[in-house]
Amino acid sequence: MRVVIADHPLITHKLTVLRDKTTPPPTFRLLVDELMTLLAYEATREVRVEPVAIETPVAPTTGVRISQPAPLIVPILRAGLGMLDGMVKMVPTAEVGFLGMKRNEETLEPETYAERLPDDLNGRQCFVLDPMLATGGSLAAAIDFLFARGAVDVTAICVLGTPERIAAVRKGVGDREVTLVLGALDDGLNEQAYIVPGLGDAGDRLYGTVD
Ligand code: PRP
Ligand code: URA
Repeated sequence: MRVVIADHPLITHKLTVLRDKTTPPPTFRLLVDELMTLLAYEATREVRVEPVAIETPVAPTTGVRISQPAPLIVPILRAGLGMLDGMVKMVPTAEVGFLGMKRNEETLEPETYAERLPDDLNGRQCFVLDPMLATGGSLAAAIDFLFARGAVDVTAICVLGTPERIAAVRKGVGDREVTLVLGALDDGLNEQAYIVPGLGDAGDRLYGTVD
């Protein structure tokens, strides 16, 4: 598994405001969107393209276009939805599939409650959006799900993660083609398995608290 930490002052600046507990949901949503545009740029470095012949007003030339089948973007509900628009802006021809997962806060195991993906992902390049890689259970389950459907490579985009839990995800991934792009590396997890210093509950900060 290839891991890329998108180390950039603009990302760190936006992340600092996101982390601040006084940042209200409208600002939080806007910042996740902006941050996502920057992370998408990094995450799509290996997006598959094919040559295309065009004519400029001056001369014929060759460029590239995104290959078919189109990349599939998979936000993990809820919090991954906050990252979707930023990603779609960068890759407007991509298709979007949905996975709904909720971490059981007692067992810390992810529970899948919704799935709307193409039945066959053979040959598809997939981009998973999930802001928090905490225990890594949700992300690992999403990656397994996509490979089981035939995906050939998966790029996961997370806002925050921790070295120890990234190592655990890497172990589970084995030799499958996975890239992980992160906005920052944090210190570790607290007793409730929240990222420290983190930004709190990403879903709640985007959309408010639900029971
Ligand atoms: C959060 C977050 C991740 C998951 C990370 O979602 O968005 O999907 O927790 O935790 P893990 O790495 O320990 O699995 P949550 O389960 O709170 O659901 P929500 O997005 O609906 O708030
Ligand atoms: N889920 C979140 O939203 N935040 C964390 O820090 C851990 C899990």
